[in-house]
Amino acid sequence: MKLVIGNQKSYLTKDEVDIFIDGIKNIKCNNFIICPSNIYINDFRSMGIPLGSQNVSSYSKGATTGEVSCEQLKSIGVNYSIVGHSERREKLKESIEDTNIKIKKLLEHEMIPILCVGETLEQRDNGKTKDIISTELIGAFAGIDKEKVKKVIIAYEPIWAIGTGVVPSNKDIEDISKYIKDLLYNEFESVNTLLYGGSVNTTNIDELNKIDIIDGYLIGGASTKAVEILEIIHKCE
Ligand code: PGA
Repeated sequence: MKLVIGNQKSYLTKDEVDIFIDGIKNIKCNNFIICPSNIYINDFRSMGIPLGSQNVSSYSKGATTGEVSCEQLKSIGVNYSIVGHSERREKLKESIEDTNIKIKKLLEHEMIPILCVGETLEQRDNGKTKDIISTELIGAFAGIDKEKVKKVIIAYEPIWAIGTGVVPSNKDIEDISKYIKDLLYNEFESVNTLLYGGSVNTTNIDELNKIDIIDGYLIGGASTKAVEILEIIHKCE
């Protein structure tokens, strides 16, 4: 079985979310976590699907306008949160230090961080992929107990594969995944759940499922269409 985490980003309007929810209303599975926009989390609460947020505040609940804290998310049944997504790092200038603070906050509240790491095309072409991933992982886990590091789900998301329809070869995903697993073990004595993310869809899922070292997927675009995500979940059961 492989875990499927849907990251719906800011794609859907309320009408579109209602259509999506209607499309998955009979879902029965234990390998799916949904990360809707915060404004729709309540709409998913009665479905029995574990809930994640796409981001979390670095601050505790209180006077931080526009932010959503761990305490608030937890109080509506959210147990997971994506942190360090490349879109936030690039567009909103989030740093590795910000990600580190968010991971600490989530762990304090017994929530599970889903940490994204991955290289740009330029970094890949310059042979820097492993250096970048190592810097990101070590920075994200600075000052965190080894015991807690293992609770974090890692998503390897090459930035050039996100939303582009381009996916690395299975061999490349295997190679980087092995590197990530070894690094986590060597640095933190940790064995983590490791996902692949970047243009996963119904046409490439069979091929990707041949990669044993991967424990699942973080899926953006394809997680906004009920028929597609149901087919992927089914193929990962
Ligand atoms: P994508 O996004 O599946 O649309 O490429 C993945 C992600 O950004 O998590």
